[in-house]
Amino acid sequence: MRFLARTGLSLASALLASQLVYAAPKSFRGCSHKLKESIAGPPHGWTPVAAAPKDHVIDLKIALPQPNFGTLEKHLWEVSDPSHTRYGAHLSKEEVDELMSPHPESLSIVDEWLASHGFDESQLVRSPAKDWVTIRVPVVVAEEMLGTTYHIYEHSASGDSIVRTTSYSLPEVLHDHIDLVQPTTMFARFKPMKSSLHWSTLTPASPSTSTGTITGPAGNQVDASCNETVTVTCLKQLYNSVDYNTTATNGNQIGLTGYLGQYANYDDLEQFYELEVPDAYGSNFTFVSVNGGQNDQDPADAGVEANLDTQFGFGLTYPTPGTFWSTAGEPPFIPDSLEANDTNEPYSYWLSYILDQTDIPQAISTSYGDDEQTVPYSYASRVCNGFAALGARGISIMFSSGDGGVGDGDADPATQECYSNDGTNRTIFIPGFPASCPYVTAVGGTVNIPETAVFFSGGGFSDYFARPSYQDSAVEGYLEKLVPGTYEGLYNASGRGYPDVAAQAYNFLIVYQGQTGYVAGTSCASPTFTAFVSLLNDARINAGKSSLGFLNPFIYSGGYAGLNDITEGNNPGCGTEGFNATIGWDPGTYCVPDPAHRQN
Ligand SMILES: *[C@@H]1O[C@H](CO)[C@@H](O)[C@H](O)[C@H]1NC(C)=O
Ligand SMILES: *[C@@H]1O[C@H](CO)[C@@H](O)[C@H](O)[C@H]1NC(C)=O
Ligand SMILES: *[C@@H]1O[C@H](CO)[C@@H](O)[C@H](O)[C@H]1NC(C)=O
Ligand SMILES: *[C@@H]1O[C@H](CO)[C@@H](O)[C@H](O)[C@H]1NC(C)=O
Ligand SMILES: *[C@@H]1O[C@H](CO)[C@@H](O)[C@H](O)[C@H]1NC(C)=O
Ligand SMILES: *[C@@H]1O[C@H](CO)[C@@H](O)[C@H](O)[C@H]1NC(C)=O
Ligand SMILES: *[C@@H]1O[C@H](CO)[C@@H](O)[C@H](O)[C@H]1NC(C)=O
Repeated sequence: MRFLARTGLSLASALLASQLVYAAPKSFRGCSHKLKESIAGPPHGWTPVAAAPKDHVIDLKIALPQPNFGTLEKHLWEVSDPSHTRYGAHLSKEEVDELMSPHPESLSIVDEWLASHGFDESQLVRSPAKDWVTIRVPVVVAEEMLGTTYHIYEHSASGDSIVRTTSYSLPEVLHDHIDLVQPTTMFARFKPMKSSLHWSTLTPASPSTSTGTITGPAGNQVDASCNETVTVTCLKQLYNSVDYNTTATNGNQIGLTGYLGQYANYDDLEQFYELEVPDAYGSNFTFVSVNGGQNDQDPADAGVEANLDTQFGFGLTYPTPGTFWSTAGEPPFIPDSLEANDTNEPYSYWLSYILDQTDIPQAISTSYGDDEQTVPYSYASRVCNGFAALGARGISIMFSSGDGGVGDGDADPATQECYSNDGTNRTIFIPGFPASCPYVTAVGGTVNIPETAVFFSGGGFSDYFARPSYQDSAVEGYLEKLVPGTYEGLYNASGRGYPDVAAQAYNFLIVYQGQTGYVAGTSCASPTFTAFVSLLNDARINAGKSSLGFLNPFIYSGGYAGLNDITEGNNPGCGTEGFNATIGWDPGTYCVPDPAHRQN
């Protein structure tokens, strides 16, 4: 029944359809294939260079529909809404698994289809809710199953190669039982949000010579040097947590994700602690490998992104237990490799792993993302649902908002290329995903004290996800302030607006390969904001309350009063000045943690 409701079929025709399903021949090879998904062409920058080798192995992920997702979403809104009686009554793993699971009929018909291609249960890897199933296949088999032809595509700027196609088909009887199959049409690159702009390369740190203090927004005193060099102490002063000691043993935890072979170096962390968080010196985090993610400790292989995230995320929250997940799954395609390692879909692997855990850190930061349009809608929406599932379980999920302003951040702001990938090649702003997912808290960037929007702060409006009701009044308030016709055709005013919050994102002093240096990017802002969410969770747990869980309904319905509004700055891109920071919500920053209300 649940399934029937989803497809919107009448009961009679659905029963008929399900009878037809069961009457389907065991072998699907005779069934006619019908186009399931296609894109106009590879996104800007990708070119097909050769046919894919038939024996190249890929991990094919198949997503089965989640007919009860609407119910899960209803729970999410209720338990995340401070004015609701169920606020904080987060769901258990079992409850969430049940609400994410596919209809048994979808499971059985997909199993039959896989069996018809020679796969038995022992070769299937399933997610906890059984809503994803993964098989390892050579290209030749994938091509037969999907009625398609794979090619090797090369990315001009990076030289990366991946094996993809621009369309695929499925036997018609499977169309209602499979949401998507990847990797097929997905060309996303999931770049770390550590600013890749040329000016931000590490330079030897010359300690600020400023002395004295600056008065922060709530009268708090911040070292004057923090206006040039951001340290853990600066952030504690600015966001007023100098006097707050976390408990460490109350069950509160913080988690940071790592992808793309970004390794968090232990020695660099200790050196950083010695410099910026002496109390934490000698402490450690828990490393967890997901899907074969590595933990290479060769100093030369340390990752700037992973070092930044762990040093600030764990440094700000010490002694709260911290976890760093290293998830594999990245280009490049290696021609003769029997390893399926150009899957390039890290989020679904991480989600499958994390949703299978009973004990999950209550605040999690991710500083990776890509242009929304390079991620097929079907995949983006499934991954976004996975973040909703985490929210329902009481986990706050933060993502950096991107480093390209309203553009793609690939090039100089004045010349960057902002073309639509829908076949029309129009000029458009380029929203980023997963920041555009309405079930995550997207974190933009600020600079200086008093804080203003930093120019690269990613922000705008999703072309995939409609505006969620929690931000209706905030976003409408902003749109009304725009001069009519502003940027018409460049952005979708009915889309989910982001970011939701912001934090410092410029000149963070980190240790990398044994040396100190500065980094910038919304990659700085996400672990920072997440750390302050974790401190709030610590205080709430000590007071016998639930973790904050999915933050946005709280933030937009009044939580913003406990944040400091950023009203200056803008985020240029695509040859425009981007959006201005204003009083109230704007697609550049919104709010940063406000000292005066920290422990509310
Ligand atoms: C911080 O630096 C900015 C940029 O240089 C400057 O405009 C601002 O006045 C400085 N803040 C203080 C309190 O000096
Ligand atoms: C926090 O811990 C530090 C170092 O142990 C101590 O000096 C300080 O008094 C503590 N602060 C509070 C508010 O308990
Ligand atoms: C942290 O853990 C890693 C892995 O167990 C270990 O190699 C490293 O020495 C530890 N660091 C400290 C300071 O204990
Ligand atoms: C990709 O495959 C190659 C060849 O098997 C292997 O050396 C490499 O470590 C793999 N990369 C990842 C990230 O798994
Ligand atoms: C889109 O238009 C731009 C500017 O005219 C051009 O440089 C680019 O090659 C076009 N891309 C495609 C896929 O046609
Ligand atoms: C604008 O966003 C809405 C809501 O997500 C969507 O239905 C519509 O297709 C989008 N339009 C364009 C042109 O992207
Ligand atoms: C941003 O503010 C400037 C200065 O007030 C104004 O000229 C510009 O039109 C504004 N831009 C937008 C998109 O609102």
